[in-house]
Amino acid sequence: MAKTIYFIGNWKMNGNYDSIKEIETVNNFLKKKSISKLKKIIFCPPSNLLMSFSKKINTKLLDYGAQDISKINLNNGPYTGQLSAKMIKESGANYVIVGHSEKRLLDEDCKTIKKKISIAIENKLKVIFCIGENLFQKKKNLSFKILKKQILNSIDKKINFDNLIIAYEPIWSIGTGIVPSNNYLDQIYTKLKKFLREKYKVNSPILIYGGSVTPDNVVTLGENSLISGFLIGGASLKSKSFIEIIKNYFR
Ligand code: 13P
Repeated sequence: MAKTIYFIGNWKMNGNYDSIKEIETVNNFLKKKSISKLKKIIFCPPSNLLMSFSKKINTKLLDYGAQDISKINLNNGPYTGQLSAKMIKESGANYVIVGHSEKRLLDEDCKTIKKKISIAIENKLKVIFCIGENLFQKKKNLSFKILKKQILNSIDKKINFDNLIIAYEPIWSIGTGIVPSNNYLDQIYTKLKKFLREKYKVNSPILIYGGSVTPDNVVTLGENSLISGFLIGGASLKSKSFIEIIKNYFR
């Protein structure tokens, strides 16, 4: 069966109210019937923009995600600076990114990530769970060991994989313009699939790739049948490159 391909834009700490025009352009592009139906488009703008964006452009063609939720499992309370999963859900998001390496560097350890994943799912948010090794670990041939550890320490045995997208984002590829070879990716995703089947009894986990995805390299990346989509940083900020990525993938 042909599978859905995810194109997820992670805007990080970028964008302002005017940036809605980028989403508007993507939405107009998606209205064209000529593009494959087997795709899911998700925008993850900063949380201050979520509500206004999702109210203004509310179509079946695209969806929204947040870049974070609080690890405090309450809807409201005296927690300065926190946004609860319920608040995020009410802002129009159906997804949330957890475990991004940029967030891990700041304040997210595996225990926190595990908590956030469970809170997100309880609040009907699907999770885009990021994993990835750094360059030092890669050079030491530790890549898969690191990924396995990140998964084991964050994903509960009883999780429903329908609520989870696993994004493999090698840290050395994020924002560097360096993309792993298809051979390298093939090894990683084959091992990931086998490990998830053995450990979690899941046959078709949603596995996507993130790190310097562009309209050019998406063609080669798309040759890997184990990859079900992309988590896109820089190239998702402008509708032109985001649309090109979608177009080039399906061409
Ligand atoms: P870039 O596409 O800018 O490398 O960012 C990737 C990323 O971190 C997406 O979450």
